[in-house]
Amino acid sequence: MLDALRSNLPTSFPRYASPPLIGHRKPRCPPYSVVSNVDQLLPYLDVVARRPYNQGLHACWDLKPGERVQLRVDNWHDPLVIEACKRILEKYGCKYDILFVDKGPVRQWTGADEVEYYLHRTKELAEWMDQWDVMSKEGKYDKLLWGYGGPVLVDTHMKIQRMPFITPEILASPAHLMPYELLQAIDLWTWKRILTAKRVRITDPEGTDVEYTNHDGYYDRKREFLNPDLVRDTWTGNEGFGKTYLPGHVLGKPWVYLAGKEDGNGVIAGTTNHIAPVDWTQLVIEGSQIVEINAGGEFGEKLRKLKSETDHLSYPGFPGKGLFYWWEASIGTNPHIHRPRKDFPSGWINCLYERVRSGVIHIGFGTIISSMNERRAAKAGLPVGHWHLHLYFPTVRLEREGDNETIIEDGRLLALDDPEIRKLADKHGGADLWLQESWIPAVPGLNVAGDYWDHYAKDPMKWVNAELTVCREFHHLFMPMVGGDPSACHDKYGVWGGGPGAHAVAAGKMPVCSEAHGTHMPGSGCCGGH
Ligand SMILES: [Fe+2]
Repeated sequence: MLDALRSNLPTSFPRYASPPLIGHRKPRCPPYSVVSNVDQLLPYLDVVARRPYNQGLHACWDLKPGERVQLRVDNWHDPLVIEACKRILEKYGCKYDILFVDKGPVRQWTGADEVEYYLHRTKELAEWMDQWDVMSKEGKYDKLLWGYGGPVLVDTHMKIQRMPFITPEILASPAHLMPYELLQAIDLWTWKRILTAKRVRITDPEGTDVEYTNHDGYYDRKREFLNPDLVRDTWTGNEGFGKTYLPGHVLGKPWVYLAGKEDGNGVIAGTTNHIAPVDWTQLVIEGSQIVEINAGGEFGEKLRKLKSETDHLSYPGFPGKGLFYWWEASIGTNPHIHRPRKDFPSGWINCLYERVRSGVIHIGFGTIISSMNERRAAKAGLPVGHWHLHLYFPTVRLEREGDNETIIEDGRLLALDDPEIRKLADKHGGADLWLQESWIPAVPGLNVAGDYWDHYAKDPMKWVNAELTVCREFHHLFMPMVGGDPSACHDKYGVWGGGPGAHAVAAGKMPVCSEAHGTHMPGSGCCGGH
């Protein structure tokens, strides 16, 4: 018998006779290591402390002796992580203080919470940015390390960088040992290709098929940067930030609106936003505007309500009336980012972090985050915010004149297979260590046996809870259970959880590959015993 939810699905809902990715995009999970002391966390922060400063999403603290730093944390951060940060600020001779905020009890999340969450956070971020401007003028600090980071109008006086480390599980990962020149090369490989595309088409087996024209009007004459006029209007006072990609967050769609020419058309569908998994949600896009929101359970209902409340409003810099315009298809670039298994989804542990895994795309619609136009709208009392759907297995095809190119295939960012990038990885310990994704989600009906709707898309949180519990508590069983690829499961380089490889990288050496580092009991039969 057809269930009631299924009968409400649009005809374009993806239906597969067999899981389309089952043979070639198998699930992967990283080792689950328990961190019990601060020393296990220091190698990662040591690398982060030395990465050159930039405003992107890779943690790049660039700590200098005598630098006046404020680190902002709260009671949703693990105390061990805060202690490790203190130790690293001391090691690098910074004059630091820690602003500790009490956020009250740690909240548990559902994906539908994203709607209010970003209405509230975006307003708060706009206020933070005003606060940063004041702090920059006061000149008390050289650098802020704040959770979200983000742009200040002029960062010559005070720099802002990220504090994405919530728990030891998030911090003690090779994602934060990655050599910066390699991350930068992957970012640039991706961005340079986007810059030259005439049209961009994004498809994904969860039901996305959308394309847009990458108009000359978005760019300067040489197509090196975004159009200075649009940047000046959208990112007033912060043009240096707005004119190009954000490291770790490559713009698969320009983060400016080009009035009269926005032609994003098609459908976008997914089962995850920045907060948590959500019931399968579909957006119908015409002229880069969301004209219809289908299914989505409670998330869909809340979005439809907000859309009806804002469709008649005029926003500064928008191509037409309404809040629900599609502006973002940003691409993550770090192969070792993974979804945290402990305490997911609660507090700061949500899906925001995982959007920066290489090849994952997050679709964004609403006001352009931290842009001046968003701040103007917030000051005018308009509801501001943007909302998301994540694509974990996207294929991105760039259309040029005669030489089209695929840059992401079924979630694999093809920069990771580029010979030059692999050569660069070899300089630092090898492509096997740095350029294999540690985490590929297991999705029944896509890369795991089962029916995409019945076993996953009608209630993805139910599956993800089961998945993360098994992966955390019975790690040796998880990959064999889902028919996954065990290659990331064993920590053969000792780079997880403060292993010897992590200490080696922090000391500027290459980690040694050894099966003995594996976190599983020998002979347990896990992942075929290797
Ligand atoms: Fe984004």
